[in-house]
Amino acid sequence: MDEKINELLQLRQEALSGGGFKRNSKRHSQGRLSARERLDLLLDQGSFEEFDMLKTHRCQNFGMEKRQYPGDGVVTGYGTINGRLVFVFSQDATVLGGSLSETFAEKICKIMDMAERAGAPLIGLNDSGGARIQEGIESLAGYAEIFERNVRLSGVVPQLSGIFGPCAGGAVYSPALTDIIMMVRRNSYMFLTGPKVVKSVTHEDVTTEELGGADVHTGVSGVAHLAYDSDEETIQGLRRALSYLPQNNMESPPWEENADSAERETPTLAQVLPPSAQQPYDMHQIVIPCMDKQSWMELQPDYAPNMITGFARLGGAVVGVVANQPNHLAGVLDSDAAGKAARFVRMCDAFNIPLVTFVDVPGFMPGRQQEHQGIIRHGAKLLYAYAEATVPKITLILRKAYGGAYCVMSSKHLRGDVNYAWPSAEIAVMGAKGAVEILYAREAAAQDDPHAYLRHKEEEYQKRFANPFVAAERGYVDDVILPERTRFRLCRALGMLNDKRSERPARKHGNMPL
Ligand code: HXC
Repeated sequence: MDEKINELLQLRQEALSGGGFKRNSKRHSQGRLSARERLDLLLDQGSFEEFDMLKTHRCQNFGMEKRQYPGDGVVTGYGTINGRLVFVFSQDATVLGGSLSETFAEKICKIMDMAERAGAPLIGLNDSGGARIQEGIESLAGYAEIFERNVRLSGVVPQLSGIFGPCAGGAVYSPALTDIIMMVRRNSYMFLTGPKVVKSVTHEDVTTEELGGADVHTGVSGVAHLAYDSDEETIQGLRRALSYLPQNNMESPPWEENADSAERETPTLAQVLPPSAQQPYDMHQIVIPCMDKQSWMELQPDYAPNMITGFARLGGAVVGVVANQPNHLAGVLDSDAAGKAARFVRMCDAFNIPLVTFVDVPGFMPGRQQEHQGIIRHGAKLLYAYAEATVPKITLILRKAYGGAYCVMSSKHLRGDVNYAWPSAEIAVMGAKGAVEILYAREAAAQDDPHAYLRHKEEEYQKRFANPFVAAERGYVDDVILPERTRFRLCRALGMLNDKRSERPARKHGNMPL
């Protein structure tokens, strides 16, 4: 027996050392943690239970039969985060670049299936050069098996991805199918193929950072949600994101005891709005004071910043916030902003997270560039997402709500549950200036002073339409509320909607304009 136990301990030791001391030291010197160190930080201390530690690959090509590593480059199992069960995998780039073999894929698929059965979140720590080149079709098949499970779990259990090293091919497509992606600045990359392959195919010289660094994916492509400066911070980010998500689609997100009273007045909010509706302001100064203190977690802050998306708590309950940002492009709705918000709305709806929408939007972005980019299609995504969402939907119009953008931003007509406006709201087909230039072009041309005439007409239009009262008369807004009572009214509305029920007609699925 002792001999057998020693054999086991020896194999375990081999598995624990991954690709060996030299490779691990090199990665430490680059400021990277090992696959196991990352799991230690992610999970509650002592909670990790590992599976398939001794599993090895079966490849016989290119001398691979001699390159065996127990565990085959990925650590898989389950553990807890703040006492909540999660399933995890952590790829080990010191073993054959963290590349994915058939058996590596089987290990991940096993815990994905367990996550589905247990109704618990899946967290993937990715650090992989993609499909193991020596294996070929088996590794491709392995990826496809993982993708199929990513889709199967989508909207059933939360799936979170951390990107910790250069990730290529399937190692980026699997995260792309998950709910939230976080990257490490300067140490992690996401691309279909690395710079060497790019050079050989397109003759383009590009660095890993330019091709798929954290700044590219959080600021330009919108693939990733957040970037941090170290492995440690990224892991804390993943833990925090999980605190806003339920175990699965049948549960509510975790409620958190909070000292911040729902009755707290918000007297500073009214002063945030500038005197003129043409002037910008920072929407964060409205959103954050309304939410429970320290509860705000923004997602994708650097991508399409004209739209704000993030998690927060109201009276202890998790909410998903969507808000126009007048500080950037006047808060206009363009293709990127619409796509960003649509995906966020769908994530919230999938995981029973009520939506609170703050509206100050001058409309959709006009022009050739946006039309050619497909603003019709992208704008329709947001319309679709809000109309489809059955979670509680609370909307507050602060200032502008013009045209189609009024309809889209969780209006009453899309089955908004509680729609409020501030007295400063302007709900109209379009801004007064643009409106009178169309309505009175002929009359203005006949005047001695067309500009003065149009200014006068603009004032008239402004008085007639640029207010919340016409909408309130129709019942399109449920009440015009005082800014200092905003937090209180939002908390109350949310409490009232706690047991909201809303059924959709049976269908296989809708045909969202993707
Ligand atoms: C096997 C791999 C590997 C891979 C890296 N390695 N990628 N082994 N299969 N896919 C190995 C290297 O041989 C090396 O082994 C070690 O990992 C470290 O690699 P380096 O190149 O030295 O590291 P680095 O300079 O940091 O570059 C990392 C990298 C680069 C950018 C990821 O290795 C790279 O471009 N790899 C290929 C990426 C790729 O095209 N993958 C296939 C994607 S297709 P030693 O023994 O020296 O330590 C795919 C199919 C799915 O994934 C499609 C889904 C739609």
